[in-house]
Amino acid sequence: MIDRALRLSPSILSADFAALGAEVGAAERGGADLIHVDVMDGHFVPNITIGVPVVTALKRAATRPLDVHLMIEQPDRYITAFAEAGASMISVHAEAVTHLHRTLDHIKAQGVQAGVVLNPSTPIAALDEVLSQLDYVVLMSVNPGFGGQSFIPRSLDKIRRLRAMLDSAGSTAPIEIDGGVLLENVAAIVSAGVDVVVAGNAIFGGDDPEAATRALRQAALDAHTARERRHLGAPPPA
Ligand code: DX5
Ligand code: ZN
Repeated sequence: MIDRALRLSPSILSADFAALGAEVGAAERGGADLIHVDVMDGHFVPNITIGVPVVTALKRAATRPLDVHLMIEQPDRYITAFAEAGASMISVHAEAVTHLHRTLDHIKAQGVQAGVVLNPSTPIAALDEVLSQLDYVVLMSVNPGFGGQSFIPRSLDKIRRLRAMLDSAGSTAPIEIDGGVLLENVAAIVSAGVDVVVAGNAIFGGDDPEAATRALRQAALDAHTARERRHLGAPPPA
């Protein structure tokens, strides 16, 4: 299981696909902790993006672990291939998998961190029976398929309820948030209990992804540090 340190995971969905290596390099210079890779099949979500060969190429270009988010039907058919291509983390949608317990075992058997993603309309109770298998949980704060959508406000309460559920089960699995994260809302999102922050448009939508990564990570880290201090009952810094 990955720990609950603050991690920023820039999503290359909004990057220039003709210059992926350079885009990843800029995000890494800005302090990216992970690289978030959105795999879409045109069936589970109404968009088609990238597949195994691009992950293989990203593995050569990136120095940070690849956080692969599978928005595809029947993900079991591709888990081994994505693991061999270089994924360090693989998340599958609860809505796309029939035998979630088996799928999580399959991911972990590849030596890869296993995560489950929940759509905005999927209740956190979908995780009840697999809590002990989870290395991390991804909450979608937009409906998956496209970058640049608006954060669904109700997600903040879902983050709090999921953290409470994980804590009461004794799970230290981090929560990853995916969709609509901006410099303006990242502090509230992290304060609610998020440890891994995905951001696509906020980083690659402008003309300086390195600076955008640095600014977003700092804002997220400040909120994470303040949250942990509150949790420990420590007074705020003078
Ligand atoms: C949406 C993807 C996200 C997306 C986030 O289906 O899973 O990772 O790239 O992009 P922004 O940060 O632009 O909402
Ligand atoms: Zn994603």
